Amino acid sequence: MDTTLAPMSQIKINDMNSKLSLLEEKQAEALLGGGQKRIDSQHKKGKLTARERLHFLLDEGSFEEIGMFVTHRSTEFGLDREKYLGDGVITGYGKVNGRLIYVFSQDFTVFGGSLSETHAEKICRIMDLAMQNGAPLIGLNDSGGARIQEGVVSLGGYADIFYKNTMASGVIPQLSAIMGPCAGGAVYSPAITDFIMMVENTSYMFVTGPNVVKTVTHEEVTSEELGGASAHSTKSGVTHFSCANEIECINNIKALLSYMPQNCEDDAPSVPYESNGNEKRTALNNIIPESANQPYDIREVIEGTIDEGSFLEVHKNYAENIVVGFARLAGKSIGIVANQPAFLAGVLDNNSSTKAARFVRFCDCFNIPLLVFEDVPGFLPGTDQEWHGIINNGAKLLYAFCEATVPRITVITRKAYGGAYDVMNSKHIGADMNYAWPSAEIAVMGAKGAAEIIFKNEIAAASDPVAKLAEKEKEYIEHFANPYRAAERGYVDEVIKPEDTREKLIKAFKMLENKVAVLPKKKHGNIPL
Ligand code: HXC
Repeated sequence: MDTTLAPMSQIKINDMNSKLSLLEEKQAEALLGGGQKRIDSQHKKGKLTARERLHFLLDEGSFEEIGMFVTHRSTEFGLDREKYLGDGVITGYGKVNGRLIYVFSQDFTVFGGSLSETHAEKICRIMDLAMQNGAPLIGLNDSGGARIQEGVVSLGGYADIFYKNTMASGVIPQLSAIMGPCAGGAVYSPAITDFIMMVENTSYMFVTGPNVVKTVTHEEVTSEELGGASAHSTKSGVTHFSCANEIECINNIKALLSYMPQNCEDDAPSVPYESNGNEKRTALNNIIPESANQPYDIREVIEGTIDEGSFLEVHKNYAENIVVGFARLAGKSIGIVANQPAFLAGVLDNNSSTKAARFVRFCDCFNIPLLVFEDVPGFLPGTDQEWHGIINNGAKLLYAFCEATVPRITVITRKAYGGAYDVMNSKHIGADMNYAWPSAEIAVMGAKGAAEIIFKNEIAAASDPVAKLAEKEKEYIEHFANPYRAAERGYVDEVIKPEDTREKLIKAFKMLENKVAVLPKKKHGNIPL
């Protein structure tokens, strides 16, 4: 008998033990990403690591990683001697408040989170799974861009992701958090997704950085000024949320998800709601000021109507003359678009039209009913507006409303003037129910301007033109500065007391719950981009 050989059963056990050790070693190595020194450096910059971000985002114990041991295949520039398990991106699936999501989190400690061929393949795999299984995709971006040593292969990887982002658009919600650099062509993946959030002072996005800007335009600008959270949340509108820190950013992702369905075939989610039988909100009766030229904050109307504390404003600091965001009404998700009389009198202009159009289209993609509060004096006049395309941009909002098949309700609180009356979800372009408060003024324009035009000759011939203008203005107000002419025509379904708004809306949205509206067969429409 050969005594040097151990019995078979023992070989297996020993073998498995050493195999398990090897597995655990590899797992531990992967968990360290680019190593402790680089993790410390990440922390010193005030940033969390890719794994810490996942820890805060996902329900405890729910994360399942895919592709932990993937490494790059490059050999040039000494890369064959430098490999890290996972290759700079952690991918997988998990749960946020009990709901399945797919996620990738770029690891800046590995080649600065730069995107290699394999890094891109990992992201694409997650995107495919998200699409096939109909669940949201969340991208936590922190990357130096294309892996410079890989050249065109990396660019190809980006393009693969852009293509999949586009295919997924309107099928599953896609959310992007920018938690570090996101520069060059890399910006176009988040840009195609539905919502972007940025972290103040530690993240930036730009197509060309400060050095290139200086060379080409001789402008001196810092990364933060050029493409930080502040610039993109106030000036460009690229980011929908500007977050004070990474934890706030992650909490915003969770909050946003709570209003969205898993995919375009799902209904918008709802939370349990018990009515106490009294949906009257008397405070709404006291919001509209006596003078039509006096501003008020439309957020008071929104907050006074929806379920308490449920408003999540989107694009808060951009184009503030229109307010958009998600809310709940009797527990159900809705999207709100509201003119803001407290800012530029609530006019529609280039930025507010584009902002609202994109929001309307998101809600329509994902079956989230739309509620519009209207108080709009018209479109903003001027060369700046015309030369920047108010014709096209206003048309975007018009088109977005016309095309939306979700339940759509409008409440006219005060002014509904001119073309803006048509655009703001009027009955004519497919709104399902239109209410007006008694304070509504539905007319071609404000009374003074109207009187000046139609009674021009009479006013000029009067012995006291000022008194004549006032008299004619009053006449016009009596005719049109009310909701009843529109109600006579059926353009307004009901004139309601402000205090009854919430109750009316709950009932009307319930009545519209099973709405089916089908667009004409086409490849796709041609929104005026
Ligand atoms: C490979 C990269 C890298 C990259 C950073 N690193 N960016 N490796 N490819 N793109 C590595 C660094 O070598 C370094 O490695 C580590 O990541 C951290 O980088 P640092 O420079 O030390 O960090 P920091 O000072 O914070 O600066 C971060 C940075 C800078 C601003 C992102 O690294 C940078 O400018 N990188 C290059 C950015 C860039 O030009 N990318 C290409 C853009 S064009 P060690 O070993 O020291 O830890 C593009 C095209 C996409 O992306 C087109 C799609 C269509």
